[in-house]
Amino acid sequence: MKRTLCFALVLLASNAAGQGYPSRPITLVNPFAAGGPVDAVARIMSAPMSKALGQPVLVDYTVGAAGTLGVGRVARAAPDGYTLSIGHWSTHVINAAIYPLQYDVLKDLEPVGMICANPLLVVARSSFPASDLKELIAWLKANPGKASVGTAGVGSGSHMGGVYFQSATGVKVQYIPYKGTGPAMQDLVAGRLDYMVDQASNSLPQVRAGKIRAYAVTAKTRLAAAPEIPTVDEAGLPGLYVSVWFGIWAPKGTPHEIVAKLNAAMQSSLADPAVRQRLGDLGQEVVPREQQTPEYLAAYHKAETEKWWPLVKAAGIKPE
Ligand code: MLT
Repeated sequence: MKRTLCFALVLLASNAAGQGYPSRPITLVNPFAAGGPVDAVARIMSAPMSKALGQPVLVDYTVGAAGTLGVGRVARAAPDGYTLSIGHWSTHVINAAIYPLQYDVLKDLEPVGMICANPLLVVARSSFPASDLKELIAWLKANPGKASVGTAGVGSGSHMGGVYFQSATGVKVQYIPYKGTGPAMQDLVAGRLDYMVDQASNSLPQVRAGKIRAYAVTAKTRLAAAPEIPTVDEAGLPGLYVSVWFGIWAPKGTPHEIVAKLNAAMQSSLADPAVRQRLGDLGQEVVPREQQTPEYLAAYHKAETEKWWPLVKAAGIKPE
């Protein structure tokens, strides 16, 4: 009886906390520099989510240390639904196996929902002297330590992609860290970097514009948005699969009712054909509806953590 009363009171408190929410703008914290893959997803989602919630969802930036500063900001924020974290596989899984974080990525965040996923592309400056992946690898082997590879910092998606490519090929390269792959891409386009193993969503617009060259996609199948790019299996590095999945989180303790409102706004945005088209054009695949729930993200986040932490720790990847 006592227990039932307690449960009813918690439920009432949660409902009360959600009433009237949101009554002011919501901040969606991008932990990387503007113009990169997280920024693209955050900006595509912010307008329809603002419409669904009746308050502006504003993208804000807290960048540095491969996204750990931005995620930490949200983990420490008030659990009131007004400060949210948008990030992906590396910010919410990999970083915790590399950095001595002041927050617990599983315990200090409340999953709102999973959005989409995209593979990486092996891309190089347009003047790079290799016409396919095999030639790229041959050049790197013939020129050890000479190639510069842009990343968004140790542990970021682009860095993990670079390390995976390096361990599969045995090449020696120099990593150049940026505050996000938005600015790194500018340097690749300008020819100041040699190559990147970068999210498709960041590279595709430049590949289409003929400003960089693409050698392979890290997936089993070609991208619908760029069917001319061969898979790693076809290009000569079989099995080099990486998929970077995206989600939204709130600080731990955010009332259930508020998380439910945020998730409903996220799901209705993802059902919008215009949103799906914009994400699809970037090579981002919207996850199926049943994977867009907080419960699914919680379970997937945990499973990914259990899968990747031992691998990343065993690889001995250390912060710079
Ligand atoms: C970004 O938004 O800059 C990227 O997601 C960085 C990365 O993980 O490579």
